[in-house]
Amino acid sequence: MRIFSGIQPTGVVHLGNYFGAIRQWVELQEGNECVYCIVDYHALTNEDMKPDVLREARRELALDLIACGIDPERTILFVQSDVPEHTELCWILGCVTSYGDLTRMTQFKQKAAEQEFVNGGLFYYPVLQAADILLYLADHVPVGEDQLQHLELSRRIARRFNYRFGELFPEPQPILGKGARIMSLADPTRKMSKSYGPEHYLGLMEPEESIRKKIRSAVTDIGLKPGQEMSPGVANLFTILELVAPTEVVEGLRREHAEGKLLYKHLKDVLFRHLMEALAPVRERRAELAARGDIDEVLAAGADRARVIAREVLGEARARVGLD
Ligand code: TYM
Repeated sequence: MRIFSGIQPTGVVHLGNYFGAIRQWVELQEGNECVYCIVDYHALTNEDMKPDVLREARRELALDLIACGIDPERTILFVQSDVPEHTELCWILGCVTSYGDLTRMTQFKQKAAEQEFVNGGLFYYPVLQAADILLYLADHVPVGEDQLQHLELSRRIARRFNYRFGELFPEPQPILGKGARIMSLADPTRKMSKSYGPEHYLGLMEPEESIRKKIRSAVTDIGLKPGQEMSPGVANLFTILELVAPTEVVEGLRREHAEGKLLYKHLKDVLFRHLMEALAPVRERRAELAARGDIDEVLAAGADRARVIAREVLGEARARVGLD
């Protein structure tokens, strides 16, 4: 299988990114051809993105990904803007994309509703995402649940291009892991995201004390009667716990909860302990990598490998539409 996925360099990798995507990326390296992209063109759609921050965030993110277990020898790890073929394919694909489909993207609608100035990049964001994937003829894309609609659109775009110009692109299928939907700690009805503020997310590399505090103040409920459905905040803590703790531990606590005996402080302490244990190897490797001076070379080599595929596929797409 050819796997493709991307992540925005916004300055912080949070648990949603890690459990929703990166952990799957690492596992999929076994036996597949993987292409992972730091999507800096996409990051430009953030109105408050500063040039210096973006420049540094790409390197930092690359180091985070390597610390998580992405192996740039086996896998193609690169920065999107180092392969400008992405933007050219984006334009071609835009011309087979339905305007109506773009107006229906929930992520666009949400972001547009939240800000005064809505840039055109935000509207075109999902077309660029389709270009990222289709440029590598990827058939599988490991992502969190929030990206399903964008992937559905990528399939529609591939289908429409193939129909008009002849079969070229596979229709990319999502791969969803167990952590595909991690919610905010402070407002568990919304997804964990950096954009809502620091109390909403847990950073992968955040200081231990800060993680402890955030888990302690995570929203729960005032206690449920036996048989009553679990509240979103408690369900989210259990979701994260299941990703880091042995089944017996989770089952034990679930039983206590069902019997109305679970103290949330205890649940949070157990979660904190297992989470820190699970993240320890990644955090230690990241600290060692901080001194690594060759990250620019690693990314340049990744871009060289990506470009070989990108040039060939873009050349074919250009020829199909009559731009050769
Ligand atoms: P980004 O940078 O917002 O997020 C990177 C990955 O993390 C997942 N994710 C989550 N998973 C579970 N729970 C959460 N709370 C959570 N928050 C984020 C995302 O689903 C994503 O998989 N549009 C993409 C970047 C992109 C891309 C692509 C992805 C650009 N081109 C091509 C796949 C293929 C994005 O904004 O990711």
